[in-house]
Amino acid sequence: MSDLLDQLVDWLRIPSISTGEGDPSELRRAAEWAAAHVEAAGGSVELVTVDGGNPLVVGDLEAATKSAPTVLIYGHYDVQGPGDVRAWSSPPFEPQVRDGRLYARGAADDKGNFWPLLSAACELARAGELPVNVRVVVEGEEEAGSASITEWLRTDERGADAAIVYDSGMVDERMPAITVGLRGMVMAQVEVRTGIRDVHSGLYGGSALNALHVLHYMLAQVVPGPDGRLRDELRAGATPPAAAERISWERLPPGEEVLSEVGARPAYPNAAAEYYERNGADASLDVNQLVGGEPRTVVPATARAAVSLRLAPGQRAAQIQPVLESLLRDAAPAGADVTMSWHVADPALFEPDLPALVLGAQAIERATGTAPALVRSGGSIPVVAEFAARAIPTIVTGFALPDDAFHAPDESYRLESLELGERTARELLRTLAQL
Ligand code: BES
Ligand code: MN
Ligand code: MN
Repeated sequence: MSDLLDQLVDWLRIPSISTGEGDPSELRRAAEWAAAHVEAAGGSVELVTVDGGNPLVVGDLEAATKSAPTVLIYGHYDVQGPGDVRAWSSPPFEPQVRDGRLYARGAADDKGNFWPLLSAACELARAGELPVNVRVVVEGEEEAGSASITEWLRTDERGADAAIVYDSGMVDERMPAITVGLRGMVMAQVEVRTGIRDVHSGLYGGSALNALHVLHYMLAQVVPGPDGRLRDELRAGATPPAAAERISWERLPPGEEVLSEVGARPAYPNAAAEYYERNGADASLDVNQLVGGEPRTVVPATARAAVSLRLAPGQRAAQIQPVLESLLRDAAPAGADVTMSWHVADPALFEPDLPALVLGAQAIERATGTAPALVRSGGSIPVVAEFAARAIPTIVTGFALPDDAFHAPDESYRLESLELGERTARELLRTLAQL
């Protein structure tokens, strides 16, 4: 355990931010860190760069017996930006242990979640006891849309018999989970320009086109109404959950609790009660950022927004993206210049009775003492849809908890989750040898 923790601390010290303000050399250092562990365990590994993206760590650890199946293990070394560092109790890239938790950006998402899996594979390989061939794939663009790994996987001919993704969480401290469903994503950065510069709102207001008004009206066409419903065009294709799934949701913590635990308030009267339906089996749209204007009497000439539409399993990003784009564009008047840049990812859903998932559930139960719940997460991991498209059965799991505050200040990971992660990883690798 102390080795596992000490090594992780070194990885967390590297500010491998992929969401904008990051330094490419730090991203490379974080990739090299992971590659070095594969190499030290006797594996082969390379850093692959696709179209100038962040390096992808691609490695192989050979099984003790040649005929063993191949399991791909996936994680991401990139992290979200820290936001306002004053909101952190200790600096985000100076990891600190307090009260049984390790605090740092990336502690839970995803370095701390993934490292026990990579470490277990390396340790088993080093001891000559690896029960399966392991393909290691660690990306550095997960928080920024996963373009490189998507491209790499499309040209990869080897595939795998199964994949293990440690980038998700438990239901609560007692109940592990396999995330069988993930939502997809259609995300736009929108910019509106309505003039050369801001002008006086007394002299020109009402006559000159206002960029904030234009953007506001565009967004009004796509945000949900007060009843929480999104327009039907944006929900097209979503497959309703099976009756058995709905029944199993009744054993999960009530939606009221899920929301109140993080200090969130229901978006409409029935929102808490509909939490699992809404979050796992329906599309949702959020305006993530709105920037523009000044707190002075001006008519702003520019405005921008980030808008993301989560896609439910069954929907296709390639089909919905043009729909969202037209709804936004058609609402802008002729005088407005609108530019948009897009990130898309498909949703994914795996049958729980696939042999790899059945074995995975058995392994998790043996390692943790509790049978995993099969859940749909409202989050997105773009590469998982690519695994699904290539018929690679994927066990999406991990030991994150809502208290870990990932993407937020004071992100942390329980030391106990590190141990659970490692114990479970060994059991998963051992069990998947039966494939
Ligand atoms: N690990 C998360 C996604 C996640 C969260 C999966 C909780 C399961 C449970 C991942 O790092 C993430 O934040 N993904 C982004 C992807 C986006 C930028 C395309 C997301 O969901 O916002
Ligand atoms: Mn993640
Ligand atoms: Mn994330």
